Amino acid sequence: MQIVRSSEELALAAAALLKSGSLALVPTMGALHAGHMALVSEARRRADRVAATIFVNPTQFAAGEDLDRYPRREEADAKMLQDAGCDLLWLPSVEDIYPQGFSTTVHVAGVSERWEGEARPGHFDGVATVVARLLLAIQPDQALFGEKDFQQLAVIRRMVRDLGIPVQIAEVPTVREPDGLALSSRNAYLSDADRARATALPNALHAARDAILSGTPADNALSRARKDLASAGFRKVDYFALVDSASLEPVADAAGETRLIAAATIGATRLIDNLAV
Ligand code: PAJ
Repeated sequence: MQIVRSSEELALAAAALLKSGSLALVPTMGALHAGHMALVSEARRRADRVAATIFVNPTQFAAGEDLDRYPRREEADAKMLQDAGCDLLWLPSVEDIYPQGFSTTVHVAGVSERWEGEARPGHFDGVATVVARLLLAIQPDQALFGEKDFQQLAVIRRMVRDLGIPVQIAEVPTVREPDGLALSSRNAYLSDADRARATALPNALHAARDAILSGTPADNALSRARKDLASAGFRKVDYFALVDSASLEPVADAAGETRLIAAATIGATRLIDNLAV
């Protein structure tokens, strides 16, 4: 696996890889776990070559969020990627991505506005801008994203379609711990006690899905889920909603393609998760 840092080195390495066949990109912020590695495996299945990026993107963190304490484990991450058969790793600096004078923001209206967009103002502008920047710098044939960040996936799909970026976006199902908690770099922040209670989040999603599918009105199932999270020790539920899978607009029942999406805070850690209905 080739490791590059500057944009110049990246341009040469990416061009060389593209000559040797199709290329799939897995963008990450590092602190890699089995969820990220599922994206790398799927990328290997879909393309001749795989590139990954690790960049803790400052523009998608609001003031007061965990940018400074976001886990950084470059060496271990590089080893995992190498062992998984990744061909190229780009570790850009903030200046490589946002050189002096960088003035452009990609804002995806509509699909980015509710839920995470409301709880984390500016978050999706940061995500869309950096993903556009990475896609244009590397020019992969495909890029892979996890369903774990379901709204992010919808925002990226909308952006790629609207801007005509020539890349195919592929999604990978959420990888979970044996007890159901979705893998996340932020799980490392949980105390042992909160880690044990955190399974209430996937449990509430499953219970709500089962209730809705067996005819309970969605509103009742959703308020039940919020109550269950509160009694399990979550101190704040930002949202627990049933939405249309493409537009992310709330829906009253599970007709068509719908998704349960949730964000809630336990201790000092905010967790997000979602489930197809
Ligand atoms: P990060 O949180 O590092 O996640 C990188 C990719 O891994 C995302 O596509 C995310 O959805 C996926 N992922 C995370 N946990 C997963 C799990 N348990 N199962 C399956 N996939 C999982 O998401 C970001 O970084 C950033 O916003 C980024 C897209 C890199 C832009 O900065």
